Amino acid sequence: MDKHLCSQFFFLGLLLVLSTTFFPIVSASHFTTLKPNEEAKEISHENEVAALLKWKASLDNKCQLLLSSWATTTNTNAISNPCNNNWFGIGCNKAGRVAYLNLTSCDIRGTLRNLNFSSLNHLLRLELYNNSLYGTIPSNIGNLSKLYYLELGSNFLSGPIPPEIGLLANMWFFSIYHNNITGHVPQQIGLMRELVTLDLGFNSITGMIPSTIFGNLSDLYFLSFPKNELRGYIPSSIGNLTKLEILYLYKNRLSGPIPEEIGMLKSIRDLELFDNHLTGHIPSSIGNLSNLTILLLRLNNLTGRIPEEFGMLNSLYDIDLGVNNLEGDIPSSIGNLEQLTYLALYENNLTGNILIILKNCTNLYRIDLRGNKFSENISETFGINLNLDYIDLSDNRFHGELDATWGVCRGLTGFKISNNYISGNIPGELGGAYQLQVLDLSSNQLMGIIPRTFDNFMELLELRLNDNRLLGDIPLIIGKLSKLLSLNLARNNLSGLIPTQIGDCKELVDLNLSQNALDGNIPFQIGEMNALETLDLSYNRLIGELPWQLGELKSFQVMKISHNEISGSIPSSFSQCLSLISVNISYNQLEGALPNIPAFQKGPFEAFRNNKGLCGDVAGLKACPRVNRGNKKRDTKLIILPMLGGIVFLIVALLLTSLTYRRSARIESRNHQSGDLFSVWSFDGKMVYEEIIKATEDFNSNHCIGVGGNGSVFKAKMPNGQLVAVKKLHTPETIGLSNLIEGFRNEIRALTEIRHRNIVKLYGFCSHALHSFLVYEFLEGGSLLDMLSKDEKAMEFKWITRISILKDVANALAYMHHDCSPPIIHRDISSKNVLLDTGNRGHVSDFGSAKFLNPHSSNWTAFAGTYGYAAPELAYTMEVNEKCDVYSFGVLALEVIMGKHPSDFISYIFSTSSASMLKSLDHKMLKDVLDKRISSPSIEVAEKVLLVTKLAISCVHSTPQFRPTMKQVSVQLSRKISTSKGLSFVTIGEPLAS
Ligand SMILES: *[C@@H]1O[C@H](CO)[C@@H](O)[C@H](O)[C@H]1NC(C)=O
Ligand SMILES: *[C@@H]1O[C@H](CO)[C@@H](O)[C@H](O)[C@H]1NC(C)=O
Repeated sequence: MDKHLCSQFFFLGLLLVLSTTFFPIVSASHFTTLKPNEEAKEISHENEVAALLKWKASLDNKCQLLLSSWATTTNTNAISNPCNNNWFGIGCNKAGRVAYLNLTSCDIRGTLRNLNFSSLNHLLRLELYNNSLYGTIPSNIGNLSKLYYLELGSNFLSGPIPPEIGLLANMWFFSIYHNNITGHVPQQIGLMRELVTLDLGFNSITGMIPSTIFGNLSDLYFLSFPKNELRGYIPSSIGNLTKLEILYLYKNRLSGPIPEEIGMLKSIRDLELFDNHLTGHIPSSIGNLSNLTILLLRLNNLTGRIPEEFGMLNSLYDIDLGVNNLEGDIPSSIGNLEQLTYLALYENNLTGNILIILKNCTNLYRIDLRGNKFSENISETFGINLNLDYIDLSDNRFHGELDATWGVCRGLTGFKISNNYISGNIPGELGGAYQLQVLDLSSNQLMGIIPRTFDNFMELLELRLNDNRLLGDIPLIIGKLSKLLSLNLARNNLSGLIPTQIGDCKELVDLNLSQNALDGNIPFQIGEMNALETLDLSYNRLIGELPWQLGELKSFQVMKISHNEISGSIPSSFSQCLSLISVNISYNQLEGALPNIPAFQKGPFEAFRNNKGLCGDVAGLKACPRVNRGNKKRDTKLIILPMLGGIVFLIVALLLTSLTYRRSARIESRNHQSGDLFSVWSFDGKMVYEEIIKATEDFNSNHCIGVGGNGSVFKAKMPNGQLVAVKKLHTPETIGLSNLIEGFRNEIRALTEIRHRNIVKLYGFCSHALHSFLVYEFLEGGSLLDMLSKDEKAMEFKWITRISILKDVANALAYMHHDCSPPIIHRDISSKNVLLDTGNRGHVSDFGSAKFLNPHSSNWTAFAGTYGYAAPELAYTMEVNEKCDVYSFGVLALEVIMGKHPSDFISYIFSTSSASMLKSLDHKMLKDVLDKRISSPSIEVAEKVLLVTKLAISCVHSTPQFRPTMKQVSVQLSRKISTSKGLSFVTIGEPLAS
């Protein structure tokens, strides 16, 4: 509240003297005669106080507090003194008169109209920068005859500059920068002959720049009019301003040539005339400006050559002549400019051997030559400038091959040479420029393969190699470019599969692989690139079905897959992909109904033509056969997981929460007792409900595949043949959970948003007075528990597979703990909750009891684990954290290694102190604990098994702090290990290599 942003002035003298000074009116012969609005008269101290208090009273309320020091003293009739009472922002002269008013950045809201300048005519400085003043600048400002400093910048002042400003003959600083000032600049401004700084930039000032500025204000150092609507020529009298160091006239509508007299501005350092309508040549006199460091002339209509005299601008450091009509060879004298750091000549018609000329400019940092007619052989030149940060040579006629030395530019972040005649291979050495963020080699004649060294480009955001003659595969290392936003490889001769690793480019927004010879399926991992907006895979040889996951992309806008061999129906996930704007799926083998979203329903026939059997309401397509409502969700790929852990009321909370989240309005009036369906993620949840009831024959036990503490799991075959797992909860209703609903809103959202290849997906839920159930991904392979508990199965279950499943579980947990924010704790890791697919990959299921860890909120917990896997500390503390999952993982890993639940082994570990445990373990050979049903591992595998065992033991440490994190475990498991020891020499107690 007490925002004392403003410095305070201190009382300068103790004397309170009534001033008797009289200030004569300034006038000048050749200007309109100016008169102050009021007769200047004796102004008493009381007048000053009254003027300030009156202004204060007129300001917005919240200023009152800030200006609370502006008040009459408590002693009722005493006259308050702004000087010895330390009024905020006020300073006084020796005579005790208000001379300074500084309310810079004080959030003052109001007008100047109520500030009676006539009563404040001792003011020297008035600083009101960066407030919210509105209204006009009153003409009585001319009464401040002593004023030398007026700063009104960054307010909302409007209207014209009053001509009375010319009365302020002592002014040397005048700024109304960044307001809404309109009208012409008054000629009278030329009366302020002392002006050094004149800043009228960023307003809406019209008309010409008054000639009096150039005629009279010969002391000007800073002249600034940018971003206004000024018209007319720059007068030749500008040459009078020989002290001028900074001239900003950019972003106006100035026309005509740059006067030759510009060469007389001997002191000029910074000359910015860009974005006007200037014409003619760049005057050669510019070569006289030996102090010039910055010259910005871009976005004009300048013609002719760049004068040879440019080479005399020894201090020049930043030059931008872009977007003009300059032509002719670039003068070789440019090569003399040793300070040159920024060079921009883009979009002109320049010719010549620019790269050779620039070879000596070793300070160059950014170069933009795009859109000219340069035609050098690029291979002979350049590329060794170690400071270079950015170079754009696009849209020229450069030819030759890319030199390996480009890779030496270690600092290069942008390299663009698109649309030239570059030939040959892309040198692998380019990978040395490992800081590249943008690499654009598109539209050239490049051949060969995409170099594998590109995996160095960890910072790359944009990669464009399209429109070349590149061959071979898309390299797998593409997945290493994890920051990539845009990838365009279109129109080459690339073949082979689209690597699934592309899914690791999680930031990718724009992917174009069209017009190559790619085959195989569209990897579903593309559907996991959650930022994806535009996908173009058209004109390839892709086969298989459209991945379900594509329709789940949240930002998906454009999908082009025409001219491939894609078959099957369009997954129903697309019916919720409302972000889609445009699709083209023509010339494929697709069939079935178009999803019911505008991108499909409103699309042109051309976008769908030449498929096997698409149907829908689009003109040109046949109508779909009428189906009963149960079939409408034919493509629903719902999958289930057995969920055996968790607690009923939490799950019910999740259900209610989910509902609330989707339909928060309805939850209020929902009646538990009624038979109303309240459901789902999918909008026709009612249909899913009915289909599932039908598919499980009203939850007939024939379809049951498992029973757990709070529900039974059923396998359901949907009408279209797809399998889902349905977990039916035993007792859905009864719990008054309305308070919990809000609390779990974020959790439930996160659970459905988890996308990880080792995590079973939760698709949704239905809740009904009769039945409530969760719908999950169905995995064919059963659970890890099944696998281990049946001897025949276990015998097929080899060491390599076991280890790789543990890696999968570790990856899933590491992801939840470390890559989700806030972290998600599973709380119930056990062999029942790890499911296998047909490829024996592990998937962690049952997040029904996962709870978000928010370190700043109080931790609501309840025992949610499975007996035998839960960390010991849960018995005496309610603190659930990631380390509980680490413990359960350790138990699971031991179970996989030993083939049975390791309870005896673990109690043995706990029965001793950790030191003696390690000691006694020294004598226990690894062989003794391994699952005997399968043969001993080979030497190499044994080392992995040993590593897993050691990790597992460290995970079940009784002290949570001593357990590793899942990230560490996952990294350790992926590590290549090498030890020369055979199995029988390895003992479990060996410390872990870190
Ligand atoms: C006016 O106040 C601002 C902000 O407190 C301060 O930066 C500036 O130096 C002051 N001006 C003078 C002349 O003291
Ligand atoms: C200028 O005025 C327009 C509307 O008249 C307003 O939108 C804009 O924000 C104002 N700009 C400034 C800098 O006050």
